[in-house]
Amino acid sequence: MILMREFLVFFSAICFISQVSSIADIAKFFPQISGNLTKVTWANSINTKTIDKILKDDNILMIKAEIELDKKNGLLINDLSLDEFLNKLKQSNTPEKVKVGQGKGANLDFKSIDALTEATKDKGLIANAAKENYPLWLGANILKGPGNLTEDPLDSTKFLTNAQSFPDIVLSLGWVTTNISGGYGYENDDIKAMKKAIGDNHIKNTLNFHVRASLAANSNPQFKSLLQETDTLTIFSGSDDTVDVKKLKATILDIGVDKVFLDVPNDLEEKLRLDLSKSGATDIVISLFNLALCILVVQI
Ligand SMILES: *[C@@H]1O[C@H](CO)[C@@H](O)[C@H](O)[C@H]1NC(C)=O
Ligand SMILES: *[C@@H]1O[C@H](CO)[C@@H](O)[C@H](O)[C@H]1NC(C)=O
Ligand SMILES: *[C@@H]1O[C@H](CO)[C@@H](O)[C@H](O)[C@H]1NC(C)=O
Repeated sequence: MILMREFLVFFSAICFISQVSSIADIAKFFPQISGNLTKVTWANSINTKTIDKILKDDNILMIKAEIELDKKNGLLINDLSLDEFLNKLKQSNTPEKVKVGQGKGANLDFKSIDALTEATKDKGLIANAAKENYPLWLGANILKGPGNLTEDPLDSTKFLTNAQSFPDIVLSLGWVTTNISGGYGYENDDIKAMKKAIGDNHIKNTLNFHVRASLAANSNPQFKSLLQETDTLTIFSGSDDTVDVKKLKATILDIGVDKVFLDVPNDLEEKLRLDLSKSGATDIVISLFNLALCILVVQI
């Protein structure tokens, strides 16, 4: 009897992993997260002082780097050159480490089209990095979103046509937003504009959308119409943002932890308590249903 139970648990775990691996390479690269993308941990503030420590830290899986083009010093992540960052990342991602899920991936967030053009030009840094074995994302804010905006998005057509020459890279797209409070969310028009930009530029890449926690909490229906099968969300938050934790949690659990990355301050992450799901009974029924479905699929 006990064996039977263990067999079922083992079997459903295999089914779960095989289900998610087609959704995101990240789930394969980091087997230890068992397809639960909220378990991916992020480093956000990298510079010449922190980079070596971050690369040695086994608790960090993904590194987010904001890329700017400096007239004098070229492509920079704060005071660290993009070139040096990619070199160090490559050296650190040895086959031995990658094999046991100890490698790291990078999300390169571009702050200007000039920076993207410089990084992607003929046989440039991105072309080389794209040949490596670790998850590499190219990201930018390409549309105006909710808020009293002071910053402009990058030109969506320029970003997408350029990024499109790397079909294997995940594109992380987003809207410029501010920390407005009062129940605002992403509007249907924001979603429409994003879908139009993607369609108009014939984008075939796997997509991630980075969204602000305070707004995401009020946007579940909008996300439903945005997210295609292989797309994921990354939820980020400003430290001063007012977030409706209950609604955000409901949104994450509804979309599924196999489709949502969480890159928020620790206090918000703790408040979310994703481990205590709101309706345990429903979850068990869903797991059993999944298991039954899996057995059926395997038998066929
Ligand atoms: C935007 O700023 C204006 C003027 O400061 C303010 O009246 C308005 O409430 C703000 N809108 C939001 C959504 O916060
Ligand atoms: C937005 O951020 C500023 C500081 O950056 C803070 O003073 C303000 O309270 C925040 N507003 C909301 C609505 O969270
Ligand atoms: C996913 O990971 C989060 C964060 O570690 C955890 O709280 C949650 O219980 C996990 N959910 C599932 C379904 O594995």
